[in-house]
Amino acid sequence: MGRNAYRVGIVGLRGITSKGVEDPVQPFRTEIVHSHAAGLSVIDGFEIVGVCDLVPDLLDDFAQTWSRRWPNAKPYADFSAMLREADLDILAIATGDHTHATLAVEAAGAGVKGIFCEKPLATSLEDADRLIETCEANNVVVTVDHTRRYRPEWVHVREEVRSGAIGKLTTIVGTLGGPRAMLFRNGTHMIDTICMYAESQPAQVWARLESGFEHWDSYKGDGGKLPENDPGAMGFIQFENGTRALYCGMKETQGMFSLQLSGADGQIYVTEENATVFSSGPDRVNGVRRRIVPRTYVAEGIASAYEELADLMENGGEGVSMARESRKTVQILMGFLASQQAGSALIDVPK
Ligand SMILES: NC(=O)c1ccc[n+]([C@@H]2O[C@H](COP(=O)([O-])OP(=O)(O)OC[C@H]3O[C@@H](n4cnc5c(N)ncnc54)[C@H](O)[C@@H]3O)[C@@H](O)[C@H]2O)c1
Repeated sequence: MGRNAYRVGIVGLRGITSKGVEDPVQPFRTEIVHSHAAGLSVIDGFEIVGVCDLVPDLLDDFAQTWSRRWPNAKPYADFSAMLREADLDILAIATGDHTHATLAVEAAGAGVKGIFCEKPLATSLEDADRLIETCEANNVVVTVDHTRRYRPEWVHVREEVRSGAIGKLTTIVGTLGGPRAMLFRNGTHMIDTICMYAESQPAQVWARLESGFEHWDSYKGDGGKLPENDPGAMGFIQFENGTRALYCGMKETQGMFSLQLSGADGQIYVTEENATVFSSGPDRVNGVRRRIVPRTYVAEGIASAYEELADLMENGGEGVSMARESRKTVQILMGFLASQQAGSALIDVPK
């Protein structure tokens, strides 16, 4: 790129992009928190040069929290003006769930070379495809913040599966709960995580949405704000490689996020807190339990996502959470809606 630092712009300034770093416990330098501004603040080679939101208070809040670390982050109320003036290399998109494609398409036409898009990639296949096709045509790399793909515990579980620790993976049960177990808002994390472990194209699905959402033949939500505007659901996914998955995402349940991965030779149980491998003995009854303890890394989470994006922009290749991979999740979401309309029948996933 021939610059000292990648010039980053952010659109959408709520907590996921803008939350500040808490006071660290001595003697640590800082804590890797969940926001884009915080993740970028602990790595070299990036500078936030533009931030954009329609709400003026959020521009002020960003300046108040971050002006010492990001003194050149110019505030914009107009997205097109930021694209025209800020000469961005990278754009972070963190607006409502159904708005990502329009902003990404405009940015790709304006010369941005990398986009880090909040999940879900889109709330329709039409949006997913216009985003992907425009970005590919303009050589723009797009990665998606399906956060578990950037967390050591979850990636180490995938390494265990790949290494054959439980034999061929046949069954995945993914459970998320609590009032924000909304299919598009947080269910997208679970469906993406299922895809991350299945490592195959989804072929068929069935689903039953939460009562009251029978009219959902397409996304009708508000971008992810309110649980009453985005359904809980239970669903089934058959992947082309034979792996089968159950998605359990009902709101009136405990707010856990956990997966059980089963193969012929064992099982892995993974939660936000820890992951355990159970390797069965020859009789498939007795076996050995082992905690997965990931190695420690200099960067993880959002920070590693930005480092990976820069590497992909420089050197090409396949990242862990690229737009085409995230499209599988959009296919499954659309398949769930179509199945509901067909009386929860097993249907082919929309192509
Ligand atoms: N990865 C994660 O774990 C995680 C966590 C939280 C949110 N998210 C995702 O981040 C995105 C944002 O979520 P949210 O809860 O902050 O949404 P939100 O609707 O509360 O906030 C979006 C912000 O974007 C601004 N905005 C919308 N359109 C704009 C435009 N054209 N120009 C400038 N500003 C615009 C709005 O004014 C608003 O302040 C969603 O896609 C959500 O799913 C991801």
